[in-house]
Amino acid sequence: MPRVMHHFFVCTNRRPDGHPLPSCAARGGTAVFEAFTMELARRGFPSGLKVTATGCLTPCQQGPTVVVYPVGVWYAGVSAEDVREIVDTHLGGGIVTRLLLPEEVQVS
Ligand code: FES
Repeated sequence: MPRVMHHFFVCTNRRPDGHPLPSCAARGGTAVFEAFTMELARRGFPSGLKVTATGCLTPCQQGPTVVVYPVGVWYAGVSAEDVREIVDTHLGGGIVTRLLLPEEVQVS
């Protein structure tokens, strides 16, 4: 089985209207997930790249949230327009520092 080199997990959690916590879906998380899917499609769904929609990843106030494994990089406030840069940067071995989740935000 081919090894997944970059797995992008995108929060698409949606809470009911009036919930005290924000949800990534309401802030564009679903569009971010769709943008990742389109970006991987544009690249022919290479075996080393994978995207998965998830439930809440914890840092709801910072969403839309994306985490990339196996490197364990967390991104906050991601928009669909950021997706191509994220994929390109990870393929090049880097991280998109401007989108990093602030260190003081707890994710566990
Ligand atoms: S709703 Fe997306 S991180 Fe909690």
